Amino acid sequence: RKIVYFKKIDSTNEYAKRIAAHEEEGTIIVADVQETGYGRKFRTWASPQGGLWMSVILKPNTTPEHMTKLVFLGALAVVETLEQLGIEGKIKWPNDVLVNEKKICGILVEGSFSEKEVYYIILGIGMNVNNSLPQELVSTSTSLREVLGVEIPIIEVFKILVERLEHWYREFLAEKDALILQKWREKAILRREVKIITEDKTLTGKALDIDEFGALILELEDGKREKILYGDVSLR
Ligand code: BTN
Repeated sequence: RKIVYFKKIDSTNEYAKRIAAHEEEGTIIVADVQETGYGRKFRTWASPQGGLWMSVILKPNTTPEHMTKLVFLGALAVVETLEQLGIEGKIKWPNDVLVNEKKICGILVEGSFSEKEVYYIILGIGMNVNNSLPQELVSTSTSLREVLGVEIPIIEVFKILVERLEHWYREFLAEKDALILQKWREKAILRREVKIITEDKTLTGKALDIDEFGALILELEDGKREKILYGDVSLR
């Protein structure tokens, strides 16, 4: 497997996008520090020394509607990595992993695709390991160091995570979508009151489940149900 390591980079996702077209599938970009790491909606992602900042280049022979499931397998691999470290993580739809209700990891899937074909997918994972958190995130985020009370070598976390990602990516290629979604459900925070902020509105209700495409099924306060494909969820 090819691993490209940087002490410092702008963003592993950006770097991956720059080389993806001519790069083999499975190549991993990892950096100690990202100078302009970003998350969903292009929000800044603090990426100081001590965290695990990585991106995987994937070239699945699939159609764009299957792409969303890659987010699910990423979160699943992260939760299983935590499990192996003796920590219970929970997934917050669509792609955050929480420990003790605080965010420990974020996943960012970007892709290049046409209507019919996926050219490449970049699966970016940012996990707080031994890094300290910016003051404004302390109340909502956590790190492995904070949870475990000791520092853990990033390479250990990296090795487990890559192994779990590979496992689930193989399942994805074998079209075990239902299995991925089922496992995801077991690890997710569901049947909880949530607030969803989408591009054009804010909804509150109970997160019931995800459908076969990964859309969140929300039960609104008036009992009606709504499906949300993309949005920002906060627990209430
Ligand atoms: C989110 O929660 O909004 C997703 C955060 C994703 C952060 C990772 S860190 C590695 C990769 N490179 C980036 O610039 N972002 C992702």
